[in-house]
Amino acid sequence: MKSTKTPSALRVAIIGAGQVADKVHASYYCTRDDLELVAVADSRLSQAQALAEKYGQAQAWDDPQAMLREVRPDIVSICSPNRFHHEHVLQALAAGCHVMCEKPPAMAPEQAEEMFQAARRAGKVLAYDFHHRFAEDCQLLRQQVMDGQLGDIYVTTARALRRCGVPGWGVFTNKELQGGGPLIDIGIHMLDAAMYVLGFPAVKKVMAHSFQKIGTRKNSGQFGEWDPSVYTVEDALFGTVEFHNGGILRLETSFALNIPEQSIMNVSFCGTDAGATLFPLHIYNDDGGELNTLLQRDQADDRRHIRSMEAFIRHVQGEPVMIADAEQGRIIQTLVAALYQSAQTGKCVEL
Ligand SMILES: NC(=O)c1ccc[n+]([C@@H]2O[C@H](COP(=O)([O-])OP(=O)(O)OC[C@H]3O[C@@H](n4cnc5c(N)ncnc54)[C@H](O)[C@@H]3O)[C@@H](O)[C@H]2O)c1
Repeated sequence: MKSTKTPSALRVAIIGAGQVADKVHASYYCTRDDLELVAVADSRLSQAQALAEKYGQAQAWDDPQAMLREVRPDIVSICSPNRFHHEHVLQALAAGCHVMCEKPPAMAPEQAEEMFQAARRAGKVLAYDFHHRFAEDCQLLRQQVMDGQLGDIYVTTARALRRCGVPGWGVFTNKELQGGGPLIDIGIHMLDAAMYVLGFPAVKKVMAHSFQKIGTRKNSGQFGEWDPSVYTVEDALFGTVEFHNGGILRLETSFALNIPEQSIMNVSFCGTDAGATLFPLHIYNDDGGELNTLLQRDQADDRRHIRSMEAFIRHVQGEPVMIADAEQGRIIQTLVAALYQSAQTGKCVEL
């Protein structure tokens, strides 16, 4: 088959050939003439082969390190389970690649710090796929916040809640491989969206409570079946982040929690002049006891994941567009660790 790629196309590889590699990374890369998917590595060779075949003529490998050494790609997507992000990102940076790593950055803040330093030393782009901040709703709200439309924001509530949405595939219920449950898997997305809109204010302290009441008893839900006997992550976590500016961010996240809604993924902001909710964006205040809408979008932007991938590639190509960078990834990882530490010890964690 004759290649339709431009001769100068950047050569892309993927490590971890599961569902996000397929639905987001490979499918995006293959829409572009200036990128060529040349290799896929997965510890299960059959997985690598299936993804490579689906998207054309990429090579399949079962050893990421050997693939990096032999293929020498320009760009690597890390889509392996959380536990391997640190190792795979460091290997890819050491091989001279720009890296798009799936969220969370890693399992611990020290790892995220090492990844940040390694990217800086290598002079390569390291982006994390915190894609919700790329929704137009988020971008527009960030601009409104910077323009002062909400006044001082003092209460933010980030919710990533599922009534019964324990992932039935992968390692999402295995604390050792995953690092935790809903907080590190879905709560982290709304945490990032909230921090992005707020402009990453400095954190003073963190307090949290977590529960494991349902995942060890039930075995099926919205996203298939799981084995309750090996369910080792939290079902739900509720935390408060206190900022040095006096504001607070409340975070509520669950894989399983008896709430009426099947799922909630949203953030609300309360400021001195106005409030806002995301997805779709609505900005409002009060006018004599009546809700006064200042700005309202009809529907949420469903291209946020594509926009996250696109921003990474544009950044690699030298455009100074916003990405979820390694420094912000380190801050988010620190917050996640502090929330887990507080939930485990029952004590407030000062940062
Ligand atoms: N941004 C998002 O919204 C989003 C959505 C889904 C998943 N993710 C993230 O993507 C990552 C993968 O999730 P998924 O749903 O695709 O999981 P998955 O289980 O479908 O895929 C993971 C793949 O990695 C492979 N793998 C396991 N260990 C490996 C190793 N040591 N080296 C190479 N390959 C290895 C597995 O064989 C599997 O094919 C996770 O970190 C997850 O948090 C992000």
